[in-house]
Amino acid sequence: MRICRTPEEMRSACRELKASAPGGRGLVRELGFVPTMGALHAGHMSLVEAARRECGVVAASIFVNPTQFAPGEDFAAYPRTLEEDCAKLEAAGVGVVFAPAAETMYPAGTTAFVDVGELGERLDGASRPGHFRGVATIVARLLNIVGPDRAYFGQKDAAQAAVLRRMVRDLNLGVEVRVCPIVREADGLAMSSRNAYLSAEERARALVLRRALDAAEETVRAGERNASAVRAAMLAYFSDFADPQGEGLRLDYAEVVDAESLLPVSEVRAGDLVAVAAWVGRTRLIDNFLVGVG
Ligand code: PAJ
Repeated sequence: MRICRTPEEMRSACRELKASAPGGRGLVRELGFVPTMGALHAGHMSLVEAARRECGVVAASIFVNPTQFAPGEDFAAYPRTLEEDCAKLEAAGVGVVFAPAAETMYPAGTTAFVDVGELGERLDGASRPGHFRGVATIVARLLNIVGPDRAYFGQKDAAQAAVLRRMVRDLNLGVEVRVCPIVREADGLAMSSRNAYLSAEERARALVLRRALDAAEETVRAGERNASAVRAAMLAYFSDFADPQGEGLRLDYAEVVDAESLLPVSEVRAGDLVAVAAWVGRTRLIDNFLVGVG
């Protein structure tokens, strides 16, 4: 497995990798790409596995992207475990990894960004100003460097998936966006690199996100189609657990939205997105499910 540090090196490594992909009669030489910020867990690896199944060869990136962190967020504290990550990617059959330095991707004088419009201000974008602009910019740039046929993202970051699907379509990037199911811990907590921040007590409290979604899912399964009622089921769950100072657990949002536009719906339909975000102590966690899917 090659590890590349500059866009030029990565571009030519990906070209060579694709040329080496198993081809032949009826088989296309396809390159799959999995962008990550590292601290890899089974959720990330499920994307690599999907790429391996669907494409001849796979490239990945590990880059903690400074422009998607707002001031005061956890950019400096974000876990960085490059050596372990590379070992996991190599064992999973990845051919090339891009791990640039922040200065390489953002030299002084960088001014071009991808503007994702109002879509970038919904759900997580509402409480993390500029977050999706940073995500869209780095992903567009990575796609331009790697040139994959398919790029793999997780449903865990549902709003991110919607923003990136829209960007790829609006900018005619010509890559197929694949969104893979949420991988969870045995007790239901969605896997996240940020789970590493949680104390034992917070780890237990973090389950409230999943439980609130379970309450919403049960309400829908019982036949409720009014989005306000489904939302109320989640809010009730949270208010039982939130402490008065909001230090232990603080809800950011609990919404029922259209999975593409991220706008609230009034009547719940199959394919709608039910999503929650909350701070557990100082750690912001997110989780979601798609109505009537999976
Ligand atoms: P990161 O948080 O490292 O996640 C990389 C990819 O793994 C994302 O597509 C994310 O949705 C997916 N993922 C994370 N946890 C998952 C889980 N439990 N189950 C399934 N998939 C999961 O998301 C980012 O990095 C960045 O914003 C990035 C797209 C790399 C741009 O910087």
